[in-house]
This record gives sequence, C-alpha cells and structure tokens, in this order.
Amino acid sequence: MKVAIFSIHSFDRPFFEKIKTNSHELVYFKEQLSAETAYLAKDFDGIAIFTSDSANEEILNLLHSYGVKFIALRSVGYDHVDIDKATELKIKVANVPEYSPFAIAEHTVAMILALNRKLILADNRIKRHDFSLGGLTGFDLNGKTVGIIGTGKIGSVLAKILHGFGCKVIAYDKIEESSLKSKYALHYTNLDELCKQSDIISLNLPLNKDTKYLINEQQITIMKNGVMLINTARGGIVNTQSVINALKSGKISSFGMDVYENEKGVFFHDLSKSILEDDTLALLTTFSNVLITAHQSFLTNEALDGIVSTTIKNIDQWQKEGKSVNDIN
Ligand code: NAI
Repeated sequence: MKVAIFSIHSFDRPFFEKIKTNSHELVYFKEQLSAETAYLAKDFDGIAIFTSDSANEEILNLLHSYGVKFIALRSVGYDHVDIDKATELKIKVANVPEYSPFAIAEHTVAMILALNRKLILADNRIKRHDFSLGGLTGFDLNGKTVGIIGTGKIGSVLAKILHGFGCKVIAYDKIEESSLKSKYALHYTNLDELCKQSDIISLNLPLNKDTKYLINEQQITIMKNGVMLINTARGGIVNTQSVINALKSGKISSFGMDVYENEKGVFFHDLSKSILEDDTLALLTTFSNVLITAHQSFLTNEALDGIVSTTIKNIDQWQKEGKSVNDIN
C-alpha cells in the first residue's frame, strides 16, 4: 500500500525507519494535513496522521477526490477526524487504541509532583544561585483525595500509581470498572461530588460532544478552594478562560496542561523566533503555578514503538483483508 505520512517529526521518524516493511511504500511529509496540503496525498491509497492534523469535512472531500481510502491515526483520540463524513465517503479510519497508558499516566504524576513540590521554580532559583526555600512549600500526597475523570486505560494506571502514593482515589466515568474498586480502593461518584471532594483532579477521558468544556465555570465553582487541575487528555475538555479566572482568584492553586484547546499550529513547532499570537497561551506562560508541556505525555520510547507498530499493523490488515481490528468506522 502506498501511504503518505503527514506531520512526521524527528522524534517519530526513526521508529518508522526501524520497522523494515517491504509491503508498503511509506512517504514522509513534514507538512500538517490541511486543505492546503491535502494535495500531497494524491495517488496514495492511505495516509497516516497525527493529533496535530485535521481531517474535517472539507479535507476528507479532498482526500476522497485524490483516491485516499484509508486513514491511519497515530493516536488514541480521534476528535480531529470527522468520522461520520469519512464513513459516508467509505474512507476507513483506524486508531491506535492502546500504546502505553503508562506514558500518559506517568506524565500526569510528573506534573502533579512538579507543581506540588515547585520543582521548576526551585530549579530556576538554584540556577541563579538562590538557595532559599521561601514559597516552595508543598503538601504530602499521602492521604489526599485525587479525582480521576475517565478510568479507561490511562485513568486505571493513574489510579494504581496514586494508590501507591497513599492517596484516596475517587473517580467519575460513565462506565465503572469494578476491578479498580477492589484493587485500589477506588470509589466511583458523580462529577459534582468528585469536584467537591478532590484536592487534585485529573482529566483522562476523550473529547467529544458530551465532554467539550466539561470543566467550566460552573464546575470550577463547586471545586475545593486551592484544587490542583491536570489535563493530559484534550484541551477542549477545559474552558481555558474559566481556568485562567480561577487561577487568578486562587480557586485553582495550580494547573498542569499537556494539551490546550487551541494547540493546533503551535504545539509540536519551534516558534521561538516568532511572536506568539495566541494571547491566552502567552498569558498562561507567565503564571508560575501553571506547568505547560506541548502535548508531550505520550513521548516515551515504548509509546512511540507502540504507535508505529500498530499503525503499520493497521495498514497491513487493510492491505490483506480490507479491514483492521482497530477500525473506528
Ligand atoms: P479509554 O477509551 O481507555 O478511556 C476513556 C474513558 O473515558 C472510558 O472509561 C470512558 O468510559 C470514559 N468516558 C468517555 N466519555 C465519557 C463521558 N462523557 N463521561 C464520563 N466518562 C467518559 O482511553 P485512554 O486510552 O485512557 O485515553 C483517554 C484520553 O487521553 C484519550 O481519549 C486521549 O484524548 C487522551 N490521550 C492523550 C495523550 C497525550 O499525549 N496527551 C495520549 C493518549 C491519549
């Protein structure tokens, strides 16, 4: 199969090159998939895209006109693809449903620890030879209540790790996973109760029409004063402006964001020589109690291995059987 790989980066190309596949012709493009770049897919059977790419109705129509029949997503989430439109155009879409839930869960914990123990602040001070400790006080994680919203693959690993820290783990999910209750003393509750009881809240669910702005002003109002919020799921689950207001008032004491609702065209790019045009993001970078990583949670060797090998397996299956076990439509 001839496959155009969009948004290839220096961090994932070596993982594709490591897999010696003679069955497919893989062509790498640094370009993000957009209405302007879709023409690059002309005469390809399939494309492989990343979270930073868009496959909306307009782009899918273009891809269809160029003969593309398969879209392999190099991600778990598929909020960047119009699945209904792809189905209508008979374009198959498959994701990588699981690569390393550990990568994202561990990054979430790294954010909790770095924010709580003010590691970035401390490191900045030490580099200026300021060895004072004022303002660096954190809290014991042991005994704190952590609310996990979404206890799928990533949320389950997170529950395990936080249980190990001695946290009381509570959760909200539309489907309860009973084994978590016995293994980690996890207690399911509704969203409002989770917001009221949690010292730390972590978002680990997909972005869709039900979860868009799930964390909004109303939800934040009922949270504990001084709550820590971590979003490693998708930016659009959080109303960023409401979080900024809550950070200013102190309602939210700290915010770890690995994803941002307007991250497209910014995250994954070196914009250090240009002016950051997004005023909201620029403001967030000035808050010392906000830790931002640019959609980096997945970035481990194990996860990249998993993403690339499952992407190739999906393409293999499409070539052999016309369908893959990871088909979404
Ligand atoms: P998963 O599908 O295993 O788990 C998602 C959980 O969310 C499920 O238990 C599901 O029942 C629950 N859920 C879905 N809609 C809900 C709703 N409306 N209300 C309550 N619960 C709901 O997915 P997984 O692998 O745990 O990933 C979760 C999300 O993390 C992905 O959808 C993706 O957006 C994000 N992610 C972020 C990465 C990053 O690098 N920052 C990397 C990988 C995933």
